[in-house]
Amino acid sequence: MELNILAIGDVVADTGLSMVRRKLRSLQRQVGADFTVVNGENAAVVGITPDQAEEILDAGADVITLGNHTFRQHSICDYLDDCPRILRPANLAPQTPGRGWGVFETAKGPVALIDLIGRCNMDFTPDNPFLLVEKILPKLDTKCILTEFHAEATSEKLAMAYYLDGRVSALWGTHTHVPTADERVFPKGTGYLTDLGMTGAVESVLGIQPQQSVEMFLGGLPGRFRPASGPCKAQGALFTLDSATGLCTAVERVDIR
Ligand code: FE2
Repeated sequence: MELNILAIGDVVADTGLSMVRRKLRSLQRQVGADFTVVNGENAAVVGITPDQAEEILDAGADVITLGNHTFRQHSICDYLDDCPRILRPANLAPQTPGRGWGVFETAKGPVALIDLIGRCNMDFTPDNPFLLVEKILPKLDTKCILTEFHAEATSEKLAMAYYLDGRVSALWGTHTHVPTADERVFPKGTGYLTDLGMTGAVESVLGIQPQQSVEMFLGGLPGRFRPASGPCKAQGALFTLDSATGLCTAVERVDIR
């Protein structure tokens, strides 16, 4: 049986949230999504509030993933403990709120999802994601295993894909907000894309007002990020899995306006 996994890149600010609200359900119908993962760590520009998480789930996401900005909105801490449908990176310190992986039911059987964060050029030092994922995999009682790797370095993401090839169904990257054109099925059957891209304003620098970004690069003082508005895009990927083997048969990028 074919299982279609839709993964949507980092939703940025109200602009991105409104795109998810308006377009996610029709996109799911169009691609025949059986399970949808949405990265929500920039819903509040930095971090996400419980209301924003509810909004993304109500709009059709099955699970929300997070990254380096997980705890920037303190109100999310209890929600991470209470709601099983939101994941923070699994390789954070064990005492941090929430969970980093889960097994979720779909109409076509269970799917596991692991959220990992990279260590290259990140502003904190999580545990080694390569060593940590090794401890999680034996605990998963399903062949369909999805992995999101929230990381800056393309090398770290590619290395993880080779490391996990044939052992997970799909691995996609998030965090850079710029989609890559390297979607493929790896030799042993893992579907892969280095970065999904983002969901937010088309005319922006990673979702932020271009003018603010230019001023910063000219040497201006950093300030609170001002999200851009205007026409929106939603970017991500569709992974087609064979539920009998848990391996990926096709990967297609998604980019809607
Ligand atoms: Fe990020």
